[in-house]
Amino acid sequence: MTHNAALVIGTSRTDGNTWTTLRAANENLQLPIFDLATLRISYFDYNSENLADDFIPTIERLLEFDTIGLVSPVYWYSVSAQMKTFIDRFSDLLGPRKDLGRQLRGKRVFLMATGYSEEKYSECMNQMIQLTSDYLGMKYEGFHYSRVAEDLVVPDNVLGEARVFLESKVGYNKRMVADR
Ligand SMILES: Cc1cc2nc3c(=O)[nH]c(=O)nc-3n(C[C@H](O)[C@H](O)[C@H](O)COP(=O)(O)O)c2cc1C
Repeated sequence: MTHNAALVIGTSRTDGNTWTTLRAANENLQLPIFDLATLRISYFDYNSENLADDFIPTIERLLEFDTIGLVSPVYWYSVSAQMKTFIDRFSDLLGPRKDLGRQLRGKRVFLMATGYSEEKYSECMNQMIQLTSDYLGMKYEGFHYSRVAEDLVVPDNVLGEARVFLESKVGYNKRMVADR
């Protein structure tokens, strides 16, 4: 079964390890990418005074897809601040925009990360996204970690493994290319 998917990336570098990995992984699929660096999404506000920023329109667009891939570097054992800010705003979908929050139920979510250390040091972010997905009634479909030991040099096998993961999450296979 193939899934219609979109990716959300949050990193502090537009030409860094996470973008390099994502571009290679997404080369065949060409899934749409929402880059948090280009969106105006502010911190969660208890008074909901920021509902007119880019968060709600981004969610409305993401709701067109059945699968959402979150992509982030590991920054201090967790997701980037950009990604965390985006996730914090899901609280708007439990309050003032419950109507949208309800539509998240049943969506599939996965997480891809790049980092310097061994994979075990990224367990925190994996668990955070899993628990958040569970809470929101979304199906967590797993985590892929790309280790980049030498900054800005992402080995081909690491890129290849990220591509295999991403393609498996959307049910992509070579026959789809032949069918195009
Ligand atoms: C602020 C900051 C914190 C980091 N913390 C970690 C960490 O906790 N664990 C880790 O493995 N790598 C850590 N790194 C390294 C990055 O995860 C790694 O270089 C990543 O591939 C960078 O992706 P980017 O080029 O998209 O920023 C950190 C890097 C930065 C800038």
